[in-house]
Amino acid sequence: MRYSTITDRLADLGSGKWALHIRARELAREGRDIIELTIGEPDLPVDPQLISVCQAAMNAGRYRYSNGRGEPAVVEAIAAKYRQRRADVTVDNVMVFPGTQTALFAVMLGLCEPGDGVLVGDPLYATYEAVIRATGAEPVYVPLRPERGFHMQAEDLERALTPACRVLLLNTPHNPTGATLTRNEIAALGAVARRHDLWIVCDEVYEELIFGGAFASPFDDPDLAERTIVVSSISKSHAAPGFRSGWAVGPAEFARRLLPVSETMLFGVQPFISDMTAYALSNPITTSATMRAAYQGRASRICTALSGGGVLAPHRPEAGMFIVVDVSATGLDGETFAWRLLEEEGVAVMPGASFGEQAKDFIRLSLTVTETRIEEACRRMNALAARIQPRKERRA
Ligand SMILES: Cc1ncc(COP(=O)(O)O)c(C=O)c1O
Repeated sequence: MRYSTITDRLADLGSGKWALHIRARELAREGRDIIELTIGEPDLPVDPQLISVCQAAMNAGRYRYSNGRGEPAVVEAIAAKYRQRRADVTVDNVMVFPGTQTALFAVMLGLCEPGDGVLVGDPLYATYEAVIRATGAEPVYVPLRPERGFHMQAEDLERALTPACRVLLLNTPHNPTGATLTRNEIAALGAVARRHDLWIVCDEVYEELIFGGAFASPFDDPDLAERTIVVSSISKSHAAPGFRSGWAVGPAEFARRLLPVSETMLFGVQPFISDMTAYALSNPITTSATMRAAYQGRASRICTALSGGGVLAPHRPEAGMFIVVDVSATGLDGETFAWRLLEEEGVAVMPGASFGEQAKDFIRLSLTVTETRIEEACRRMNALAARIQPRKERRA
C-alpha cells in the first residue's frame, strides 16, 4: 500500500529518541532499582482545588462539544494573562489547544510549507524536528554554544539564515539547558527577525519555572507583535501534563486563519478541562513556586555532587526541570555514557543526542525525583565516571 510522505519524514523522529527511557521502564518492571531521571514529569500533585473545579464541571454537564477557538471563559482567562504582558491582547488573539505540543503542530502547519526553513536552536526539545518536518519544512540549526550559556546569539542566527527561512522557533526558558533569554538578547534576535521578515514562534512552557532572573519574551515587545506567536500550557506551571491544556496567542489575523485548521484537527477541547484551566490561570495557585524552589535546590545539589567527582561537568540551569551534564571528560559521548549508566548503575538519563548535535557530549537529567534519590544517582554517576576515567588515563 502507498502512504503519504509525512509517515516517512517522521519515521525516525518518534519514540526512537526515548529508547533508553523505554528500556529503563522495562528493567524497573523486572525488579531492578532504577533511578528514573529521563522525562519531564512534575513530581508534585495537581492542586486539589483544580481537581475539584474539574469534577464540579463534569458534574454540571460540562462535557458537551466545544468550539474551535475554545470555551469563552478559558479564552478570556488566557487573554487576561497575556494582557498583563501586552495591553492590546484580546480574545481575538487566543486559540485553545490540548497542550503546547498540539499548539506547536498547528501553528507550524499555519506558517510553513514544503521547502521552507525553520530556524531553531541546537540543542532543541526532542519533538521540534518532527514538528517542523511534518509541514514539509526543514530545520535550520542555530548552534547554542555552551560557552555562551546555550543562549542563542543574534550573530549565530544571522550566520545560519538562508533565503528559505520563514520562521524562528524559540524556546525560552529552554529545554534541555534551562537557558533563559534576556531582554537584550530577545531584542537582538527580534531585530534579525524583522530584517528578514521572519515569524517568531516562542515556546514558553517553562515561563513559571525561572530560578532567579527575569522572564523576557518577543511577545512583550510591541514592535514584534505582528510576527510573534506564543505557545504554552498548564503542563509545567500547574504540574498538569495529563490534562492536555494549552494555547497559542498571536496576531488576530493569524488566529482567524488558523481556526479552520484547529477545527479540522480537534473539533474543540473538553469544556471541563477548559473550566479548570480558566480557574488555574485566574487564581493564585502555589504549585509553580513550590516546584521552582525544589528544582533549583535539586539542581544545586547535582552541581555540588558531580563537580565534587571531578570528571562530570554539570551546567547550572537558569530555569526549568532539567540539568545537562558534559560527560566528555570520560572519553565517551552522552549516548554511550547514558546506556552504560543504565546497565551498570541503574540510573536512567536522556542521552544529549536526543536533543541535537550540539548536545551529543551531554546527558540530560530531570530534577523531578527527591533529593535523596538525586544524591544516590549522583553517587552512581560519579562511580561510573571514575571507573571509566582511570582506564582512559592508562590508555593515554
Ligand atoms: C520545550 C517544551 N515544549 C513543549 C512541551 C510539551 O508541553 P505540553 O505538555 O504542553 O504539550 C514540552 C514538554 O516537555 C517541552 O519541554
